[in-house]
Amino acid sequence: MERSIMEVAINSIMELTENSKQRELVAGFFLKDVVGFIEGIKQVYKKYKMRPKYLQRQINERCDHVVFKGRELEKKIERKGLKTRLLIKEIKRKFREVIKEVTKHSCIMKWASEKPRGYPGDFKMLEMMYDNRILSKGIGQYLDNYLLSVDSVVSVRHRRDKMVEIMRDFVNKTKKPRIEMLDIGCGGARILRTYFEKGFHKEYSGMLNCTNVDQDDLALDYARRYLGKYRNRKVRFGFKKESIRNISNKKEHFASVFGKKDLIYNIGVADYLPSNILIEFIIFCMGILNPGGKFVVSYKDFDIWNFVSPDWFCNWVFVHRNLHDILCLLRDNNIDVDRKYKLELQWIKTEDIFYLILTKKVKAHKLL
Ligand SMILES: C[S@@+](CC[C@H](N)C(=O)[O-])C[C@H]1O[C@@H](n2cnc3c(N)ncnc32)[C@H](O)[C@@H]1O
Repeated sequence: MERSIMEVAINSIMELTENSKQRELVAGFFLKDVVGFIEGIKQVYKKYKMRPKYLQRQINERCDHVVFKGRELEKKIERKGLKTRLLIKEIKRKFREVIKEVTKHSCIMKWASEKPRGYPGDFKMLEMMYDNRILSKGIGQYLDNYLLSVDSVVSVRHRRDKMVEIMRDFVNKTKKPRIEMLDIGCGGARILRTYFEKGFHKEYSGMLNCTNVDQDDLALDYARRYLGKYRNRKVRFGFKKESIRNISNKKEHFASVFGKKDLIYNIGVADYLPSNILIEFIIFCMGILNPGGKFVVSYKDFDIWNFVSPDWFCNWVFVHRNLHDILCLLRDNNIDVDRKYKLELQWIKTEDIFYLILTKKVKAHKLL
């Protein structure tokens, strides 16, 4: 990319800067780091096409470097205030726009940043992350591979595996002849599908009734299609389009819609929810648990989970919380976990995502 084209591209950002220091930082980032990134990717691709492993390393290093520089820039200009927030948002938007010259060749990066379903983390994106398969050709295959192998995406695969383990353990230890499961924010129900694909359901002789809820009807269609083959007289599936906001606002109504549950899980969703909705949602789920039932929620620990690449390349925006924030949120909202519920924490293999598990004690009173 020519320097003059980049200069035109960053003019819109300059209008949002507040002083010459900010202008200098922004210009430096785009004219040096971003131009260097685009040119560098094109050059190494040309030069090392015949050495794919080395080329992949070169591309990974360049991707990591440019987002590191972006993060550095963000920290330097980070000051509280709407104007600075808008400036940072615009810098990131422009960054994604100008690097399209190379990222457009990667189907996975393209899907991740364009978000065709209108929100980040849709079921197709998750399928790509779980499948861990390169979908593009040419330069795009290396960018696909980069995104699939960043720490934050690797941990999403570990998150699925951990939940399947929790599900298997719960089902196998229960003495009940019938288990009611509820996945809220199920996406393509990959967790449940993995449980069935691995044949773990055969270890349980009772009946499994699995309800899947998501705001996205295409995700539900997808889940329905792939789960259909496991349906039999001992395994039932239900699907419902609903949003967590709505559920949290009409707790009593949805308590009777869903009925009592033994295992409720909510994976990869809480990180998007503002605290007021999240807390109401937790209260709802705790309230519909049967005695002995578990409510399992995954959280990214933003002190550890590396959000920089997803943020800069894909515009995946989350509510940043760490373990302490979550525990404070429960305590500050008087969720009396000690008396009626047992609280347990489990980490995924990479320790950047944890599960908060609330088990309803057998002699507990109803919360709702
Ligand atoms: C990151 S995906 C996770 C999917 C699945 N739980 C998994 O772990 O593979 C998030 C899913 O939650 C759904 N979702 C996000 N916000 C939601 C909300 N407020 N109410 C219901 N579903 C929601 C999205 O439609 C998407 O399918």
